[in-house]
Amino acid sequence: MQDDRLIVALDVANVLDGLAMAEKIGDAVSFYKIGLGMLTGGGLALANELKAEHGKRIFLDMKLFDIGATVEAAVRGFARYDIDFLTVHGDPHVVRAARAGAEGSNLKILAVTILTSLDRGDLDAGCMKAGSVADLVTERAGRAFEAGAHGVIASAQEAALIRALPQAEGRLIVTPGIRPTGAEHDDQKRTATPAQAIADGADHIVIGRPVWMHPDPRAAALAVRAEMDSPQARHPNV
Ligand code: C5P
Repeated sequence: MQDDRLIVALDVANVLDGLAMAEKIGDAVSFYKIGLGMLTGGGLALANELKAEHGKRIFLDMKLFDIGATVEAAVRGFARYDIDFLTVHGDPHVVRAARAGAEGSNLKILAVTILTSLDRGDLDAGCMKAGSVADLVTERAGRAFEAGAHGVIASAQEAALIRALPQAEGRLIVTPGIRPTGAEHDDQKRTATPAQAIADGADHIVIGRPVWMHPDPRAAALAVRAEMDSPQARHPNV
């Protein structure tokens, strides 16, 4: 019943709702993402409970960015919790510091390349160098891998480009912005289906609202898993 390729983003209002949702979904999902919005509402307690009492894997999406010493100290603190994935921004000094902070633990460091909500205009406003977003994402992914990232976060559109990088060998690609066939797109602009993302080289897909806002979250999660097992997940053009 376990398939940890599917990570469900538990972007619900509070810890109690998070626990209730995980119980409703049961063994259909074995991996949950807890984000910044839940941190001040007991997100770490929720992570502990889901891991210790329910045997779930935990992805803590903190997107850390600071001077190396501060990132290292923060990651050392998070590594005391039994967490599986932690996000930092993909700048090489941040990734190196995060790896140092995670030393001796099983925590995997995932690097954010460029937030998928940013377009070229936003990058100009932030003084980011010229070039297409896809090129910059691929370059940042390569540098993050060289700095020691266990994996990167990227949209499914960029997964294939990143998977083709020599530095990506043995590293993880985790893709949010996934929408099951026929689901609402919500505010996600560049979406892919679960099958497309897996076919393009994603190791894990992150899905939130199409599962937790669904009237039957367990059935929704099982439907996503079925899509990941479909022939399209192996041959995108079939
Ligand atoms: O509800 P939905 O499936 O859109 O949720 C996706 C999750 O992935 C949210 O927690 C969102 O913050 C996160 N995410 C994203 N795009 C990124 C990075 C993270 O949608 N580039």
